Amino acid sequence: MVLSRQDGNGGGLVATMLTMSTMTGPDFGARTTAILDHLDQSRQLKSLQMIEGPMGPSITLREHGEVACFCSNNYLGLANDPQVVEAGIEGLRRYGAGTASVRFICGTFACHETLEARIAALHDQEASYTFTSCWNANEAIFPTLCEPGDLLLSDALNHASIIDGVRLAAVIKKGLHKGVYPHNDLVALRAKLEAARANPDITGQIWVVTDGVFSMEGDIADLPGLRAVCNDFDAKLIVDDSHGTGVMGKTGRGTHEHWGMAGSEIDLFTSTLGKALGGGAGGYMAGSREMIDLMIQRGRPTLFSNALPSTVACSADKAIELLMNEPERVARLRRNVEVAREGIRAVGFEVLESSTAICPIIVHDTAKAIAMSQRLLELGVFVIGFGFPVVPEGEARLRVQISAAHEESHLEALISGLTELKKEFS
Ligand SMILES: Cc1ncc(COP(=O)(O)O)c(C=O)c1O
Repeated sequence: MVLSRQDGNGGGLVATMLTMSTMTGPDFGARTTAILDHLDQSRQLKSLQMIEGPMGPSITLREHGEVACFCSNNYLGLANDPQVVEAGIEGLRRYGAGTASVRFICGTFACHETLEARIAALHDQEASYTFTSCWNANEAIFPTLCEPGDLLLSDALNHASIIDGVRLAAVIKKGLHKGVYPHNDLVALRAKLEAARANPDITGQIWVVTDGVFSMEGDIADLPGLRAVCNDFDAKLIVDDSHGTGVMGKTGRGTHEHWGMAGSEIDLFTSTLGKALGGGAGGYMAGSREMIDLMIQRGRPTLFSNALPSTVACSADKAIELLMNEPERVARLRRNVEVAREGIRAVGFEVLESSTAICPIIVHDTAKAIAMSQRLLELGVFVIGFGFPVVPEGEARLRVQISAAHEESHLEALISGLTELKKEFS
């Protein structure tokens, strides 16, 4: 109305009305409802289960009561370990709720320094730096450490945080090259590196980035192979070992230890504190002193966002101390993984092979995976079903995750639930 008075003629009114409709834009509510309806109809809609107590091998779910939990990343059972909890409470008492500042202004507590020294030692690296999540760490490293003329090559099955971190880096650092190599395919990677070294536009550092343990397949990166290929082309190797830290290798140092490699053979690690190492939240990078120094100077997520809360830093520090001093936790996890994998196979399900604590049972059809997961819950066993688009079409699965905290009774509940499923869904 107001606009038509400004114009004063009919043609102008139509034009103004058109402009008005453009200015008002599409109906966000209707668009969002359509998206949610589509997810619902295609059975992709997620619902949040409410947990009414601490994370452990058994948990209490609202509406379902106590169930055996096989879908948490609480690999070492430290999420509710009394010492880990107490360390967090002590941190809260000593440092208060937080720094109310970013790290470089007045946001670094002594507990950050202690934790970062422990993480560096865990990974056999010169230094480390923490973030509020590993997602945040992956979002920080590429735009900060890479420069125009560099090339970043990423495994096709890398975690979403690596994919988005690389995308962000290419936007922030114009002239940074990026590419993807087929999953764990060293021949294809070598070919890409050969091409890169012959490309006059690639004038800087080459980086190869991989998950240590791939979260959907539960398989692992061939780190010795990757190291050798990287050496041949003077490329730096970055490993996100979020599902490997605390899990892989005799002492739980990670996927490199599984392969008999020293941590120092990897140029840069990222990992999470939100899985095996206490399960609260937080992530980190661990690498050379110069990488960490550059992050402190230039990393946007650390220059412009608050530090890891002191409670989490203190809990994580205790969790790593326990991991380093009590290797029997890792040994128990390994035993549980073997028992679970054997049991799943004995029931007659197809489980993707590896020695990780992630046991994907392939059932192919998305609707079937979801129905099976719901039925298992009725049977008192909590396992998540993943379908398209989280995994490729036709590769829907139940993802069973094993913890050192699982007792025989939990593993028996899992196998008896799966035995029932085998009868009902064959
Ligand atoms: C390989 C990998 N990287 C990063 C993350 C993100 O970790 P965070 O929860 O600390 O952000 C995950 C979590 O699922 C992961 O599996």
